[in-house]
Amino acid sequence: MAALPDFIGGRVTVKVGDITREDVDALVNAANGSLMGGGGVDGAIHRAGGPAILEECKAIRSSRYPKGLPTGEAVLTTAGRMAARYVIHTVGPVYGTVAAEAKLAGCYRSCLALAVDRGLATIAFPAISTGVFGYPRQEAAAVSSRAIQKHLENSPGIEQVRLVFFAAEDAEVFLDHHVFG
Ligand code: APR
Repeated sequence: MAALPDFIGGRVTVKVGDITREDVDALVNAANGSLMGGGGVDGAIHRAGGPAILEECKAIRSSRYPKGLPTGEAVLTTAGRMAARYVIHTVGPVYGTVAAEAKLAGCYRSCLALAVDRGLATIAFPAISTGVFGYPRQEAAAVSSRAIQKHLENSPGIEQVRLVFFAAEDAEVFLDHHVFG
């Protein structure tokens, strides 16, 4: 695939691949509220990172989130065996649930805010909610790009946001429907 375009002065890049292989400060997991793992990118991250991630998720559940991580919020754990330093787990909305668009934007905002809080400069995102949670890719592209651009305008510390799509077609749909200025 030809080199994909970048956005916002090169601070946002788009690529096709397996997010577990990204060497970034933090990679984002499209988790579920239990934080106990699952399929899709959640399963891939736990498999690639190893049990240390689940151990920290269990500690988070028993201390801060006994009822589970609410949709739109984000927590940070080790990335275990992966090249990345951290995993930021967020729970996307299921498409069609109440305020799904606002909650999806909230996922991107929460993850970026957490990265800023921790002084992280590079972060990779999967296409949150566009798999099992059924969010149409073209609608998600507009929501995610708008939320990322808005946050980056006030977060000079974030040097690079990588949008990692598992399938080339997903990247193409994103490139056709993003709203980066
Ligand atoms: N790297 C990058 N992207 C990936 C990878 C990977 N290794 N594996 C899957 N994806 C992509 C999917 O193709 C999809 O485009 O991540 C996107 C999000 O899909 P899901 O992983 O299904 O996540 P989501 O739609 O947010 O549903 C979350 O699924 O796995 C469960 O525990 C998880 O309950 C939660 C739900």
